Amino acid sequence: MSRLPLHRLLQIWLLFQCCASCNCGLDPKKRDMLMKLEELRRTGGAVELDEREKLLDAKLRKLQEHEMKAGPFPPSMHFFKAKPLIEQSPIFSLLQKMPKGGALHVHDFGIVGVEWLVKNVTYRENCYVCFTNEVFVQFIFSSGQPAPRPLCSRWTLLRSLREKTKNITDLDNSFIRNLTLFTEDPDRAYPSQDVVWKRFEKAFLGAYGLVTYAPVFKDYLYEGLRQFYVDNIMYVEIRALLPATYELDGRLNDKQWSMQACQEVVRRFTAHYPDFVGARVIFTVHRGVNATVAIKAVEEAMTLQRNFPDTMAGFDFVGQEDLGRPLWYFKDALSLPEQRGVDLPYFFHAGETDSQGTEVDQNLMDAILFNTTRIGHGFALARHPVVKDMSRKMDVPVEVCPISNQVLKLVSDLRNHPAAMLMAEGHPLVISSDDPALFGSSGLSHDFYEAFMGFGGMSFNLGTLKELVLNSLRYSSLPSQTKEKAIAALLVKWDKFVLESLL
Ligand SMILES: *[C@@H]1O[C@H](CO)[C@@H](O)[C@H](O)[C@H]1NC(C)=O
Ligand SMILES: *[C@@H]1O[C@H](CO)[C@@H](O)[C@H](O)[C@H]1NC(C)=O
Ligand SMILES: *[C@@H]1O[C@H](CO)[C@@H](O)[C@H](O)[C@H]1NC(C)=O
Ligand SMILES: *[C@@H]1O[C@H](CO)[C@@H](O)[C@H](O)[C@H]1NC(C)=O
Ligand SMILES: *[C@@H]1O[C@H](CO)[C@@H](O)[C@H](O)[C@H]1NC(C)=O
Ligand SMILES: [Zn+2]
Repeated sequence: MSRLPLHRLLQIWLLFQCCASCNCGLDPKKRDMLMKLEELRRTGGAVELDEREKLLDAKLRKLQEHEMKAGPFPPSMHFFKAKPLIEQSPIFSLLQKMPKGGALHVHDFGIVGVEWLVKNVTYRENCYVCFTNEVFVQFIFSSGQPAPRPLCSRWTLLRSLREKTKNITDLDNSFIRNLTLFTEDPDRAYPSQDVVWKRFEKAFLGAYGLVTYAPVFKDYLYEGLRQFYVDNIMYVEIRALLPATYELDGRLNDKQWSMQACQEVVRRFTAHYPDFVGARVIFTVHRGVNATVAIKAVEEAMTLQRNFPDTMAGFDFVGQEDLGRPLWYFKDALSLPEQRGVDLPYFFHAGETDSQGTEVDQNLMDAILFNTTRIGHGFALARHPVVKDMSRKMDVPVEVCPISNQVLKLVSDLRNHPAAMLMAEGHPLVISSDDPALFGSSGLSHDFYEAFMGFGGMSFNLGTLKELVLNSLRYSSLPSQTKEKAIAALLVKWDKFVLESLL
């Protein structure tokens, strides 16, 4: 990628110093220089655009200007309200067409739009449903009447329920609502982080019985890759719990089976879509587990790493950070690989909190101490200047997921998201979507829109987008040769995108 050469930077800086020292009052050149220096610091600010890119940038700028002025500004609103506005935006449709490289922070059961789960999966044979006291749905596939589940009604075969239901569309829509967080009035429905996280875990549990059915597990992953591919993404890193999957007769498959399934699905997918680079798995465990379970999990991760070196990328903890255990609690487990001379890369969620100064808030420090490869969210990073410097110097990027942070109530107006500051100073980062299916977004385009317009307003340009897109492969866990090839392929896609967007 062409960046502004260092000597040019130095020249500009020297000019500025020079100008600053003379007593030349309000010299417009000095002003321009100051602007230029700010611009150079930004994410993508030093990317030099070629002639065609400059034309597209000019077009983009007009669209930005229009969008800043026209009506309510989507990033300032809750995503559930902003979504229809975003989807009408010409910037959004440009971002959809833009090749976005890799999605580096997404979770196993949050990648497929839930319409597919309801319209496709729940229509398969042998699907049973039960309702909890709070009228939440749970599903299971079974060859016979499944064993009753505590706190859930008797299992009903969905096919017979549908036969008895007057309005099936209404029923399906109610399932869809169970499986996402969408609601017309999010501020009322979710007054606090704990409430929204509880609802999040319920939605997740609802989907659980569907996606852990072995045949669905594979189809789900395939469909997830397809939905990302359609959004012009060529590579995905999936944080995966790799839960036991089950067969129709109740038999359970282990993690090895799940990894094998992932490998097989990714191979099948890339054979079908040769310009898709692939997908890798970051094995995750819930951060509510105790030290003993964590040790077992890390040991399992090392085994998976040995058995599936191409598919397995590393290890992480998931779940609400504020209620889970801090990384330091898991120090014995996390020290195991090093003690045994095994390379198990970490990709920790850290700083997905606004509880400053608590044990949880220290996760950012510990993530760096445990040599994390990337930082998931890092929402609190701006409040930790030393860690921030280290993350920059060690080139440990932050995975920023704007919509997730907003829906899970860390920030309401995305113009105030801390990543706006990180991007203003060119901190290494990538944009991702966490659990798009639960938020009602898809792929990465909605999050790119929020980041581009919300964090940047008029200050970001096509160079910002190019840098973000390149970052997504640069900071991926792909082995270096594959990475270089993927970046080259991305740049070819990029040029085609620029050309086609000018027509
Ligand atoms: C459901 O998905 C499977 C695999 O993804 C596909 O083969 C099948 O045609 C779909 N069925 C329906 C009814 O959409
Ligand atoms: C089902 O209900 C929806 C409104 O919720 C309505 O639009 C639709 O026409 C109804 N379908 C049938 C078959 O009654
Ligand atoms: C979940 O589905 C049930 C059953 O259809 C329905 O009664 C309930 O209202 C749904 N919950 C939500 C939050 O939509
Ligand atoms: C850790 O958690 C597991 C699973 O929940 C439990 O079986 C075990 O007794 C716990 N160990 C300790 C030491 O608390
Ligand atoms: C992290 O990396 C440093 C430098 O390579 C090494 O000294 C240290 O032991 C590593 N820590 C862990 C927990 O792997
Ligand atoms: Zn996450």
